[in-house]
Amino acid sequence: MQPLQDLQGRKFPYLRLSVTDLCNFRCNYCLPDGCLDHHHSEALTIDEVRRLVTAFASVGVEKIRLTGGEPTLRQDFSDIVRTIKQIPGIKKLAMTTNGYKMDQRVTDWLDAGIDAINVSVDSLDPRAFELITGHNRLREILSGIQNAFDHGLPSIKVNAVAMKGINDDELDAFLDWIRDYPVSVRFMELMQTGNNLEFFQKHHFSGKKIQELLLERGWVRKVRLYDAGPAQEYCHSNYEGTIGLIMPYSKDFCNDCNRLRITSLGQLQLCLFAESGIDLRDLLQSDGQQEELLARIRDSLRLKEDGHFLDQGWTGGTQSISQVGG
Ligand code: 5AD
Ligand code: SF4
Repeated sequence: MQPLQDLQGRKFPYLRLSVTDLCNFRCNYCLPDGCLDHHHSEALTIDEVRRLVTAFASVGVEKIRLTGGEPTLRQDFSDIVRTIKQIPGIKKLAMTTNGYKMDQRVTDWLDAGIDAINVSVDSLDPRAFELITGHNRLREILSGIQNAFDHGLPSIKVNAVAMKGINDDELDAFLDWIRDYPVSVRFMELMQTGNNLEFFQKHHFSGKKIQELLLERGWVRKVRLYDAGPAQEYCHSNYEGTIGLIMPYSKDFCNDCNRLRITSLGQLQLCLFAESGIDLRDLLQSDGQQEELLARIRDSLRLKEDGHFLDQGWTGGTQSISQVGG
C-alpha cells in the first residue's frame, strides 16, 4: 500500500504512541505540581493499540516509540510490547521512560521485545536531579541503565533538558560520564508549553552554545538516518558515547519531520504543538475497520502544517508534554 505522505512530501516511518498520560514524576518544566489531571484508566486497550499499529504498519510505519506520561505505569506494559512486536512490518520498538523502577523492570521490558530505550536524566548531580524531578532516584536510574547494558541492550539514549541556571554547568560532567560509557546523551532545548511560560522564559538555554563548545573540542557531526529522531548527532574518537542536540527553535527543524503522534486516548496529533488531535478511537473498535481508519489517517495528513510556530510563542493546545507524549 502507498506509504503515508503529507503535502510537503514528508514520509512517516515513525510513530510515537502514548499509552498513558499519567506520570509519577514532577519535572519542573512539565508537571511541577505533579500529575493532577489524567485519563489513565481510559487509555487505549491492547486490542486498540494492536489495530492502530497494524494500520500504520501497513502504510510504512516501521518504528514505534512507546511514551507517556510514564508508559511503564501501565500494568500491562510488557503485554503491549509483546503485542506490537508481533505486528508485521514493525522493525523497531523503542520506549521513553523516566527510569522509575527501571533497575528492577528493565529485563522484563527487554525480554518482551523492547529494542531501544530513552531515559530522562536531566542532571548527574543527585540533588539537582531531585530538584528537577521531585524524586531522589538518580542512583537507581543509573543502575537501571547499567542493568539494561548487562542484559544485552547495545546502546541507550539519555535525554537531558538543558536549563539555564539549573544544569547548564553540567556539560563536562556528562562528557566525563560518556568517555568510557556507550550512552548517547541528547541535550534538548526547553520548549514552551501552555503551562510553563514563566519557567521557560527564565530557563531556556540555546543548544547553539552547546554546539559551539562541542565543535571547539573536536566533536564531529554524524550523518542522519532515515528513521532517526530530530537530534543532530556528534561523536568524538576519544569517547565511547555520543552527544545529540535537539533544537526545536532552530530554523528548518520541521523540514525533516518524520513522525506522527497518538495520544493515550487515541487521537492522532500531527505535531507536538497541534491545536487539537483527530480522534481515531471510534475506528479502533473492530478488526474490520482498518480501511476506514486508514482513510481517516490519510485525509488528516493533508492538515499537517509545514512547521510549528514555537518561535512566535505559539504552543497550540499543548499544556504540558505529558499530555501528548513527548
Ligand atoms: N521541553 C523540552 N523537553 C521536554 N520534555 C518534557 N517536557 C519538555 C519541555 N517542555 C522531555 C522530557 C523527556 C521527553 C519525553 O520530553 O524530559 O525526556
Ligand atoms: Fe513525567 Fe516526563 Fe513530564 Fe517528567 S517530563 S513529569 S517524567 S511526563
